[in-house]
Amino acid sequence: MNLAIIGHGKMGGLIERLAPEYGFTVTTRLNSANNRDASGITGNNFAGVDVAVDFSAAAAAPQNIARLAALQINAVVGTTGWTQQLPQVQARVRDSGIGVVWSPNYSVGVNIFLQLASEASRRIARYKEYGAWAWEIHHAAKKDAPSGTLLKVVDEMQRADPSREVSVSSNRAGAHPGTHEIGFDSAADSLTIRHTARSREGFARGALLAARWVVGKQGWFDFRDVLFDQDASQQAPTAKAAASAQPPAAARGGA
Ligand SMILES: NC(=O)c1ccc[n+]([C@@H]2O[C@H](COP(=O)([O-])OP(=O)(O)OC[C@H]3O[C@@H](n4cnc5c(N)ncnc54)[C@H](OP(=O)(O)O)[C@@H]3O)[C@@H](O)[C@H]2O)c1
Repeated sequence: MNLAIIGHGKMGGLIERLAPEYGFTVTTRLNSANNRDASGITGNNFAGVDVAVDFSAAAAAPQNIARLAALQINAVVGTTGWTQQLPQVQARVRDSGIGVVWSPNYSVGVNIFLQLASEASRRIARYKEYGAWAWEIHHAAKKDAPSGTLLKVVDEMQRADPSREVSVSSNRAGAHPGTHEIGFDSAADSLTIRHTARSREGFARGALLAARWVVGKQGWFDFRDVLFDQDASQQAPTAKAAASAQPPAAARGGA
């Protein structure tokens, strides 16, 4: 299967390195120089492409997705920082008939963390003596704050318990690949749930799993649709292939 990489930075480069393990050949690579205003997303550049992954920039992603929709190319989008445009982009994708997986975080652990945040909020809803918080830290170069992941975590908490305010804060420092934490605190006790990413590799592998899953599908999907689809687990690379992969660079990362 042929893969196009839109945004060939830290994430795009890692996805290219891991792509063969998931049965992909990378045939197209775009960055800011050859894709200004989505001008690189053309029929010629995308001939034979089965699916595209976008880990580019907030200012570019909505336009990139619109061009992919026009070309009928399915996509996995990891770019964060453009949630305000999400409703229009979702409508465009649905009208076009392509399939898109979007997630601010392609790590398996974070997506389970999201479910735990929702479930904890639902269960604690009746106990008004608890105050709730959500916090994250990422490396100093991360542009958006709060992170897309933290916004999603807070959204899950507020859907589960609309009555409780959630105090939200973000730090940007050093080389952290990404830590997200939620908690509930009362005079009696304190409950904390935390996810810590060790490197970017988990995000890249999740995006590749989603890319394989979305081929031939139509609609707007969340990474959890991929993760908790019974067939998806059969799409993971074999343990042998994963073990033979290069060890991840201790690169900074984070969603
Ligand atoms: N969902 C997740 O799990 C997850 C995980 C990690 C990161 N992210 C997000 O993914 C995005 C990229 O992260 P990163 O760490 O890889 O950043 P990065 O290293 O800065 O790479 C971004 C890449 O996007 C390119 N780019 C900028 N404008 C573009 C355009 N119009 N068309 C095509 N490419 C364009 C840049 O090209 P130039 O080098 O030419 O400027 C660069 O190669 C960020 O939004 C980040 O928050 C998401």
